[in-house]
Amino acid sequence: MANPLYNKHVISISDLTRSDMELVVATAQRLKAEPDTRLLKDKLVASCFFEASTRTRLSFETAVQRLGGNIIGFADGGNTSAKKGETLADSINIIGSYSDAVVMRHPKEGAARLASEFSRVPVINGGDGSNQHPTQTLLDLFSIHETQGKLDGLNVAFVGDLKYGRTVHSLAQALSLFNCRFFFISPEALAMPDYLCEELEEKGIQFSVHETMEEVMPELDILYMTRVQKERFDETEYKHMAAKFVLELATLEGAKPSMKILHPLPRVDEIEVAVDKTPHAYYFQQAENGVYARQALLALVLNETV
Ligand code: CP
Repeated sequence: MANPLYNKHVISISDLTRSDMELVVATAQRLKAEPDTRLLKDKLVASCFFEASTRTRLSFETAVQRLGGNIIGFADGGNTSAKKGETLADSINIIGSYSDAVVMRHPKEGAARLASEFSRVPVINGGDGSNQHPTQTLLDLFSIHETQGKLDGLNVAFVGDLKYGRTVHSLAQALSLFNCRFFFISPEALAMPDYLCEELEEKGIQFSVHETMEEVMPELDILYMTRVQKERFDETEYKHMAAKFVLELATLEGAKPSMKILHPLPRVDEIEVAVDKTPHAYYFQQAENGVYARQALLALVLNETV
């Protein structure tokens, strides 16, 4: 029987079941321990980035090449015929005829879903506006499992821009399938969207809203940091906000020894560099895990059995 992700689009984390996520985590674990150079042999993946990226694009491209596959694509939609007015639907129709799967990032919410409707091959969403970033979530789940030995019943704080941060939306939805308890810490103007809080309430997931990291630090298993975006505030307001949501060494006082800090990166100045040397910092290993999680996903989407 084919694995449940074979030949499927991966657009939103809510397209995946709990057991799909567990399968990706287990496969990533295996590929990290036992590298395989043939799983994507004779497969061609199109890497279509209409928006800037460092980690997502390069870790996907590394994943394909290390699994023995080939890659085509672009890192800047401004160098494609989109510039001449070609629709995304037409572009993806054509790109899908050249490749076995399309990985795409786009600045517009819903672009990946639209692309999947016009593609003859699986589309994997590498981030669409402030909407979803499902493959970031898969590598986050892999990193959480790697550090905590489980995904169930953890205490997880999300800090920073919870309104526009697509990574926190996807991860909260995923962890809600594992009965985690959430602490939301953000400026009021960047609070978790109502639709997501309502979704959590309907599922009976416990969550609470806080003003500082210190008040919840001793309870946490995972501290998920994100960037407060400067452009969303005036200068004085930003300075006030940013100071409140910076993780310093002193903020970690009282943290469990096993507590790990994750961040999808890029970091600007929301985590003091001195924190990097503490045993709590896991964001660089998390970014490295992007290769294994994306290898696992591509291998499952492009092979009936893995
Ligand atoms: N985490 C993440 O999506 O990073 P990039 O924007 O560099 O791809």
